[in-house]
Amino acid sequence: MDFGWLEVVIASLLLTLVGGTILTRGRSWLDPVFWKRFAIIGSLVMFVFLWILTFDTLSKTSVGTDRVPNPTVINKRIGYELNAEKGYFTPVILGDEPLFGKTYSEEEATALLVKGKLVIQSRNCMDCHTLLGNGAYYAPDLTKAWLDPKWEKIMIPMTGAKTREEAMVRFLMHPDRYATWTRRMPNLHLSEDEAKAVVAYLKWMSAINTNGFPDHFGNSKLVQLD
Ligand code: HEC
Repeated sequence: MDFGWLEVVIASLLLTLVGGTILTRGRSWLDPVFWKRFAIIGSLVMFVFLWILTFDTLSKTSVGTDRVPNPTVINKRIGYELNAEKGYFTPVILGDEPLFGKTYSEEEATALLVKGKLVIQSRNCMDCHTLLGNGAYYAPDLTKAWLDPKWEKIMIPMTGAKTREEAMVRFLMHPDRYATWTRRMPNLHLSEDEAKAVVAYLKWMSAINTNGFPDHFGNSKLVQLD
């Protein structure tokens, strides 16, 4: 379904008005029953709308839908382009790009992402970072961290890694060793497997269409994507 907040508000008010008018036919507005019935029908209409909206949202935020790609997207190159029609940046899924030189099956990719998510939860990365906007504001939002040109421009040379994913693993295992000029991230003692799972999770998350969130990520002067 494709409707905006204005349609939802107008439709729920109209339904409340029509329903209330029918239920209170012949009653004066000074009669308490008049208001009672309007309150009941109003609550019922809102309940039904919230129910519909909840399922509508689930259909747009579940894995494998238009906006939230299947776990196997970690086998693809992920681009980030300005969508002229919408006026914000959206991820685009391009050709094959195996992660750590491997193409993952759907089960393997799912298991890796679940592990990455558990590592992120167990280390409380959200104490400092935000993921999809949730968390703390001490350190950068990680939603599009995979696409950050800093990996190619700063971290590959700094860590001596050959690929972006390898540079990310090295940084995640020893953030204290590869500090930049900004705030420092402490060493959270991630094993190599844990760091790899986190990188897979970050790659998958960067492919989610978040309506351009974080704002200006693609066109900020600090993160020029080329
Ligand atoms: C105590 C706060 C803190 C915690 C906890 C923390 N980080 Fe960080 N993280 C930082 C800071 C500060 C930076 C910026 C470091 C820099 O740019 O040199 C950073 C940078 C990063 C970056 C690079 C982001 C970018 O695009 O520039 C990634 C990826 C990252 N952290 C992942 C994680 C993960 C995954 C966890 C949990 C396992 C985690 N962090 C936990 C503070 C934290």
